[in-house]
Amino acid sequence: MPALATSDIIAVIGAGAMGAGIAQVAAQAGHPVRLYDNRDGAAQAGIDGVRRQLEKRVARGKMAQAEVDAVIARMTPAATLAELADSRLVVEAIVESLEVKRGVFAELETLCGPDTLLTSNTSSLSITSIAAGLERPERVAGLHFFNPAPVMKLVEVISGLATDAEVAETLYATAAAWGKVPVHASSTPGFIVNRVARPFYAEGLRLMQEGVAAPATLDALLRQAGGFRMGPFELMDLIGHDVNYAVTRSVFDAYYGDTRFEPSLVQQALVEAGRLGRKSGQGFYDYREREGQRDNATSVAPDFAPAAEASLPALVAEGQLGAIAPLVARAEAAGVEVVCRESVSGEARLRLGGLTLALSDGRCAAERARDEGLEALVLFDLCMDYEAASAIALAASPGVDAEAREQATALFQRLGLDVAWLSDTPGLAVLRTVAMLANEAADAVLQGVCSARDGDLAMQAGVNYPRGPLAWADELGLAFVHRTLTHLQQSYGEERYRASFLLRRKALAEETFHV
Ligand code: NAI
Repeated sequence: MPALATSDIIAVIGAGAMGAGIAQVAAQAGHPVRLYDNRDGAAQAGIDGVRRQLEKRVARGKMAQAEVDAVIARMTPAATLAELADSRLVVEAIVESLEVKRGVFAELETLCGPDTLLTSNTSSLSITSIAAGLERPERVAGLHFFNPAPVMKLVEVISGLATDAEVAETLYATAAAWGKVPVHASSTPGFIVNRVARPFYAEGLRLMQEGVAAPATLDALLRQAGGFRMGPFELMDLIGHDVNYAVTRSVFDAYYGDTRFEPSLVQQALVEAGRLGRKSGQGFYDYREREGQRDNATSVAPDFAPAAEASLPALVAEGQLGAIAPLVARAEAAGVEVVCRESVSGEARLRLGGLTLALSDGRCAAERARDEGLEALVLFDLCMDYEAASAIALAASPGVDAEAREQATALFQRLGLDVAWLSDTPGLAVLRTVAMLANEAADAVLQGVCSARDGDLAMQAGVNYPRGPLAWADELGLAFVHRTLTHLQQSYGEERYRASFLLRRKALAEETFHV
C-alpha cells in the first residue's frame, strides 16, 4: 500500500509531550497538520514548543531558518474537534484513559469522512477496546511512537481485532515515508517493546535483590560486556520508576499475573519512597548534588577487582571455541602463553593450571562443578563481542581458592577486561538477561504478536538494543539459549524462566529465527 500523500491533512489530538512531537514529525514530512487540545492555548503552546526545538537546530547549524518557518507554517492549532473533519489521518495522543479515548473516537466517527484513518498513540490500552462499539472499527489502529517522537525511530503499527490489513499497510508505509522505522504488531499487552523489554529491568532488579552485585556494577557489565547503551538501573532512573513500575504492573496484570512479568518489590519501594529517578533527584543513584550533570549514574564506581599480581601458567584452550575464540586471541596478543588442543566432548573449556574456566550455561558454578566432576571452576559471563568487551563477570565454584581466584582475575585483566566477581548465581548477568529477552521475543513471535524480523527491529530502533534478541539467540545457538533457560528454571524452580515453546521447537529442529 502506498503512503499517504504529503498533501493529505494529518490531525493530532493532544498537544502534550507526544502529540506535539508527532505533529512535528508529520509537518517535517511535508503534511499540513492540525493540532487540537482541549486545554485552552495548549495547541498553540505545543506549536511554539516545536518552533523552539527546531530553532535550537538552527543555532547548531543543522537546519535553515526558512525550513523551520515552513514547518511551522504547516502547523495550525484547531479550536474544536470539528476542525479536524477533513483530515486523512488522525493520531490521538491524549490522556491514557480508555473511557476518554473511546469518547473522542466516537465523536471523530461522526465528524470525519469514512476514509479517515483513526489511530491512537496509546502505550498500554487495547486498540481492540478503543475501536469496540464504533461503526467502522476496521479503520482504527495503533500508531505507537516513542519519546521523544521526533528523535526515536520506531513506530509500532498496532492492529486490533477489527483493523483492516490495508489500513495497517498504509500506516506502515506512511511512517516509513516520515523517516521512521515501522513494525507491525497485533494489539496485545505491551505490544512489542514494552513487553519484550521487561526482562532487561526484571533480571537486573532480581540480581540486585539477591545481593549478587550493586546497581553500578550491573550497569557497567550490561554496558561494557553486554554492549547495551545503558544499564537497567540508570535506564530505569531515566524513565522514572513511577512510569516503569506502572508499565510492568499493567503488563503483569494484563497477562493474568504471569510470573514472567512479576513487578519487583525493590522498584515498588522506590516508588513508595518518592525516589522516582532523575526527575525527583534520587533513584538507584543520587542526582541531588550534581544536578544537571548527565553522567551522574556512571560516576558511581562499579565494584571491579583491584589489579591482580599473580603470575600466569599457560592458558590451555580446548574444544570448539566458537564465540569465545576472540578471548583466546586477546590472551595471545597480551603475551599469555596459549596451548590449543582437542577435547573429547568438543565443548569449549579454558584451563589455567588446575582451574577450569567456562562460559556460563545457566547453572551456577557449584552445580556445574559437581555435574562435571571439577574441583575448581570459574564461570564467565556472555559478552556481546568478546573482541570489543571491556568488562566481564565471573563466578567461582566452592573449590576455587584465593590463589586460583587471583589467577583468573589476572588472566582477564591481562586481556584488558575489568573483572567483576559476582556471587555464584545462575546465568550471571548478561547471559541471563539476553536469554530472557530472546525468550520473551520468541513467545511474542509464537503468539503472532510480531514477526522475528519486526521483533528484533523494534528492540533496536525503540530501545537502542545493540542487537535484536532473536538474532543474538540465533548466533549463540538456540539449543544453548534453551539449555540456559532450562537451567535457570531448574535453579529457581520458577515458571518465570520457562522456555518459550517456539525456542524449544526451533532448537530441536536445528532451525533459526532468521534465515
Ligand atoms: P501529556 O499529558 O504530556 O499530554 C496529553 C495532552 O492531551 C495534554 O495536553 C492534555 O491537555 C490533552 N488532553 C487530555 N484529554 C484530552 C481530550 N479529551 N481532548 C483533547 N486533548 C486532551 O501526555 P503524553 O505523555 O504526551 O501521552 C499522551 C499519550 O501518548 C498517552 O496515550 C500515552 O500513553 C502515550 N504515550 C506516551 C509516551 C511517553 O513517553 N510520554 C510514549 C508513547 C506513548
